[in-house]
Amino acid sequence: MKVLIIGAKGQLGTTLTRTIPSPLVSVSLDLPEFDITDTRSVQNMVEKERPDVIVNASAYTDVDRSEEEADPAYLVNATGPGNLALAAGQTGCRVIHVSTDYVFDGTACTPYSPDAPCTPLGVYGQSKRRGEINISKTIDNFVIIRTSWLYSQYGNNFVLTMLRLMNERDEIKVVADQVGSPTWATTLSTAIWAVVRKTSLRGVYHWSDAGVTSWYDFAVAIQEEGIQLGLIDREIPIHPITTAEFPTTTKRPPYSALSCQKSWYDLEVNPVQWRVALRKMMMEKKQASK
Ligand SMILES: NC(=O)c1ccc[n+]([C@@H]2O[C@H](COP(=O)([O-])OP(=O)(O)OC[C@H]3O[C@@H](n4cnc5c(N)ncnc54)[C@H](OP(=O)(O)O)[C@@H]3O)[C@@H](O)[C@H]2O)c1
Repeated sequence: MKVLIIGAKGQLGTTLTRTIPSPLVSVSLDLPEFDITDTRSVQNMVEKERPDVIVNASAYTDVDRSEEEADPAYLVNATGPGNLALAAGQTGCRVIHVSTDYVFDGTACTPYSPDAPCTPLGVYGQSKRRGEINISKTIDNFVIIRTSWLYSQYGNNFVLTMLRLMNERDEIKVVADQVGSPTWATTLSTAIWAVVRKTSLRGVYHWSDAGVTSWYDFAVAIQEEGIQLGLIDREIPIHPITTAEFPTTTKRPPYSALSCQKSWYDLEVNPVQWRVALRKMMMEKKQASK
């Protein structure tokens, strides 16, 4: 089976490329050689490669910048997935598209199921939701897999930012009133490869690591694990703050836990508790830095 991995230089795309199970073969694509927003070049690539599956891990992921630059966010997050679906429909291949917990407004107090109504608060979530719609309106043979609070040892993410700040600063402030589920790109990749193998699956799935926490508690856990592993030299005070005290006007869902039960059952992949996954990622980071 041949898989096109789009957004292959991002944190999820890098992890997917590194974890592809045999006997699958992959072609990894990203900017600048391949631009998902270019309809013609997407069609040419899909016709040339004739993949069985396209996994779309590309996205415009800067949530704050999306508010100032809505057009590029919509191009990458909405037009791009539509282009992929069009080309996939013409060649008969399947699309697995990665989306986000930010399609929800965060007013729930129990985990969002895949069929819960989507009312995104900001441009990033709205553009990602439009991408989901563009795919589902164009083809039947698709899986949308929504995830949350993604991190890995590659690229830009909360864990790497916290480790850097904890080594640079004498104290930090972290938002304590936004709650969700941190997800390691490696556990998400395991779920995505299960979706690839289970060729009859269709529709919307949720995947995050198990358990729920706040950004503040996540930061405290990063500090604890970081000190134990020698990735941080000393403990600094971490102050919990409210969303209103954080210097951004971008609205984020206060609660975005995803109900993943359908995925655990259909994919036959066991969930990993978020703190266990965090420890594994940080141990890998430690190994890589030796
Ligand atoms: N990060 C999170 O916390 C989070 C949470 C929930 C869901 N997600 C979703 O998970 C998926 C993977 O996220 P990630 O954190 O791995 O993202 P990422 O690290 O930002 O990677 C995205 C990749 O897509 C590339 N890309 C951007 N525009 C493109 C275009 N026009 N054509 C082709 N490639 C393009 C980016 O290239 P450049 O770097 O050059 O722009 C980058 O290599 C995305 O769908 C995202 O929405 C992420």
